[in-house]
Amino acid sequence: MERLQKVIANSGYCSRRCAEKLILDGRVSVNNEIIRELGVKVSKKDEILIDGLKLNKDDKVYYLLYKPRGVVSTAKDDKNRKTVVDIIDTYVRIYPVGRLDYDTSGVLLLTNDGELSNMLTHPKNKIDKMYIAKIKGIIDADAIYKLKNGVIIDGIKTSKAKVKIKRVDKKSNTSIVEITIHEGRNHQVKKMFEAVGYEVLKLKREVFAFLTTGNLKSGEYRKLTIKEVKQLYGLFKNT
Ligand code: URA
Repeated sequence: MERLQKVIANSGYCSRRCAEKLILDGRVSVNNEIIRELGVKVSKKDEILIDGLKLNKDDKVYYLLYKPRGVVSTAKDDKNRKTVVDIIDTYVRIYPVGRLDYDTSGVLLLTNDGELSNMLTHPKNKIDKMYIAKIKGIIDADAIYKLKNGVIIDGIKTSKAKVKIKRVDKKSNTSIVEITIHEGRNHQVKKMFEAVGYEVLKLKREVFAFLTTGNLKSGEYRKLTIKEVKQLYGLFKNT
């Protein structure tokens, strides 16, 4: 059982404060009885109407966040650090689709749609993720060849990857490398570079499936369009 105003807010209908006002204004009914006080608790089975219209408790929400560095990709952090969920202003309980490291930036989806989230993160579905990595040192052809063909990390060979050198800077002794993988193992990109003898200094996820940060600045987010959500579901039509 949960408080009525919390259920309304969690559905994404409006904020907790707004839900409280709706109740106090007598606009909310539970099982056809108008509720005017805030203590009432409801269960999943109860029918909630607002202004006579049924509250949809199952509305799905989808956000695309340009994750900044210095934020954890979980809903709650045991060290009390800021999380990606803290950034999004919503009363719906959402969670990230997969993870980016604390010091990695870039495209991250957040949703309450468990079905889509599972499909996007399941290894069998091979969703492409493109990263731009700043590497310490001047990367050589042998390393690129190995990264493309798979390297052993944690005892298991990685799948084939697309790898392109974008820039090398002899002055600062760094390289910028674009790498596209479809697996999502822990710290995968950093470990892949480590396996060929290079340290990743900076990492950004540029593309997730077909989604990019676009015009967003680091720390900004937007809702996905219905078309984008359909397109994401479309990726699994034949699976
Ligand atoms: N690979 C990594 O090493 N870190 C990330 O955050 C994502 C992919």
